[in-house]
Amino acid sequence: MNEQPQMKVEDRFWLKGNFAPVHEEITETKLEVTGAIPPELNGRYFRNGANPPSGDTPHWFFGHGMIHGVELNGGKANWYRNRYVRTPLLNAEDQAVDETMEDLTKSIANTHIIGHAGKILALEEGHWPYELSPELDTVGPYNYGGKLKTGMTAHPKVCGETGELLFFGYGLTPPYLTYHRASADGELLQSEVIEVKGATMVHDFNITRNHVIFMDLPLIWDFAAAEKYGMPIRWSDDYGARLGVMPRNGKNEDVVWYDIDPCYVYHPLNAYEDGDTIVIDVCRMAHSMKEGMPDVPPVLYQWTIDLKAGKVSERQLDDRAVDFPRVPDRLVGQPYRYGYTAEFGGLPAAAAFRKYDMKTGTSTAHILKNGRAGGEPVFAPAAGASAEDDGYLLSFVHDPAENKSELVILDASNVEADPVARVHLPVRVPAGFHGSWIPDAV
Ligand SMILES: [Fe+2]
Repeated sequence: MNEQPQMKVEDRFWLKGNFAPVHEEITETKLEVTGAIPPELNGRYFRNGANPPSGDTPHWFFGHGMIHGVELNGGKANWYRNRYVRTPLLNAEDQAVDETMEDLTKSIANTHIIGHAGKILALEEGHWPYELSPELDTVGPYNYGGKLKTGMTAHPKVCGETGELLFFGYGLTPPYLTYHRASADGELLQSEVIEVKGATMVHDFNITRNHVIFMDLPLIWDFAAAEKYGMPIRWSDDYGARLGVMPRNGKNEDVVWYDIDPCYVYHPLNAYEDGDTIVIDVCRMAHSMKEGMPDVPPVLYQWTIDLKAGKVSERQLDDRAVDFPRVPDRLVGQPYRYGYTAEFGGLPAAAAFRKYDMKTGTSTAHILKNGRAGGEPVFAPAAGASAEDDGYLLSFVHDPAENKSELVILDASNVEADPVARVHLPVRVPAGFHGSWIPDAV
């Protein structure tokens, strides 16, 4: 960004402690393990995050993407690697956002990493994905053979039933929102412009068995806002807030919009169909980037869309600050019972991993002690799993006493217990954003 924000450096939490970037890319094959790595975990856990090479950014969201990964095989941890995603913007962070949005290769690729159709893709919401090798070398931008004409959200959804990849791209100029659907084998099948009023930050969306649900929420792009918030985005009291329900293979004219109370949601936990209703569980902020008001932490809410009555009801499910919510990949868009979240301390990192039982309305937690801090808990299924929570939660956890990190593996069916395994890394992994367990079989 050319415009530097007025936020004082000492207020920038993302430059300090374990949020600060690391400056070396390493490969380590001798990894100490406490406990026993489940032998059925064969694959790689990758996690993306902002890691500004210069050591400075105006906002946590703007550091260049660095992937941290651990390969597991047959009960062993083969390696830890961290690598930048090598895009044209690496070491060129002073470009204005509005310029980089015109060139879909100019990604900072810092938000998420997924596996789909045999490809590993590093994602950021304004540009094309970047394909990486399983060893985290950058292959290059990926655009479905030239078919993808917009960026890709950092939160595409792989349907657990069909294997399709459902996603969207958004722009600062029309078309502001475009929906895309790719087949399980990676062919872009459909791109539809979805009409919305203006350029908003559309961070995530929802899928169910038959529908996609867009969240048209009042964080609008405004380059004058960069000075205040470090991002050219601000809350609007006028924009309103809506959910747009569309059949998965539908078009703009099929979208039914439902007004909801203004709020911001970075991340839904999950969504599913229940008869004539669609249930969406989200980490909801009452507002964000609002003039004169500090952000409020996200808490778990449930929206129920009654498709017949044309109404949405909402209820708060808990008052704890939680985000980075995950369910098992195979249950994305499906009825589910258990949700896994990062419960925040004062900063957007996990002071605990909290598991919600949506059936009973209760929760349990793995509380990190002595200042240890984790991130998004990613679910990896156990071999031959039958129960929904028969599997593991994976996350990097930083230990401030040693200033090093571990890959922590918890038993998802008993999160309160000591970790099943801890893979000790020789370095720290900065607090970051999203990741995936990508088994060899995918
Ligand atoms: Fe996100």
